[in-house]
Amino acid sequence: MGGNDIIRIEGLSKSYDSAETLRGVEKKGKAPVYVLKGINLRIEQGEFHIFLGWSGCGKSTLLNIIAGFVEKTTGQVAVDQEEVTKPGVDRGVVFQNADSAIFPWITVWKNVEYGLKIRKIPKEEREVIVKRCISLVGLDGHEKKYPHELSGGMKQRVQIARSMANNPKILLMDEPFGALDAQTRRLMQNELIKIWQESRKTILFVTHDIQEAVYLGQKISILSRSPDARIMETLDVNFPYPRNLASSETTALIQYIQGFFEIEYTI
Ligand SMILES: Nc1ncnc2c1ncn2[C@@H]1O[C@H](COP(=O)(O)OP(=O)(O)O)[C@@H](O)[C@H]1O
Ligand SMILES: [Mg+2]
Repeated sequence: MGGNDIIRIEGLSKSYDSAETLRGVEKKGKAPVYVLKGINLRIEQGEFHIFLGWSGCGKSTLLNIIAGFVEKTTGQVAVDQEEVTKPGVDRGVVFQNADSAIFPWITVWKNVEYGLKIRKIPKEEREVIVKRCISLVGLDGHEKKYPHELSGGMKQRVQIARSMANNPKILLMDEPFGALDAQTRRLMQNELIKIWQESRKTILFVTHDIQEAVYLGQKISILSRSPDARIMETLDVNFPYPRNLASSETTALIQYIQGFFEIEYTI
């Protein structure tokens, strides 16, 4: 194990008891149907790591296992050398659907402050942290607004600020910009790159969008289809930020990744 690994996954498999079939593959006798099978991965401290795969391949399952929301079936998942058994403040989660993640009945400020209050952080300290996190995601001036007064992009900013307020080591993001229009999505991607560069958090980011993966990721793990989804390859992407998706290098990388999906997803 490398000295800087923050996440170590070995031989991870997951089968849902209720999963009788996956993509038309029937459960034979008592043999379980695995969504994920034999996942091995190491993620370094500070890495911006993308999980890329089409709908239903098990990306959310994988992220939720790392978050501690979903129990694995076999294998090991360790964060900072410690086996994951439950959620923790070291892992902040940002979901695709902000509406089910932030509280509609309290203001932006109170949403961001919520976790700190639960953790009984003193008021003066909370104020400093909340102010800093709201500013980090560009929501200055919107503190007193309620979620229904915010756009989709702003709600995602609230989710990110709320996660950052707990100062997690790892940010787990499940298709966080999937529901946004194209321009807002690009804006948020740029903001996230900035937040990552300033905070040096480890970010695990799930997407089914190849362009988004190549725009953001330092590493891109490409998942195969379920059942038995595995990581087909983890790519190192060393292009500097901000990236130009029209450059010959990025176009070549996008084509290379498309190649995986053409083989895997047309069978
Ligand atoms: N709680 C669950 N019970 C049974 N099957 C599930 C459950 N959650 C997800 N699955 C199945 O596992 C597979 C992967 O789902 P998911 O991790 O949500 O994929 P993705 O996020 O890549 O779209 C899907 O076939 C889905 O139907
Ligand atoms: Mg998903």
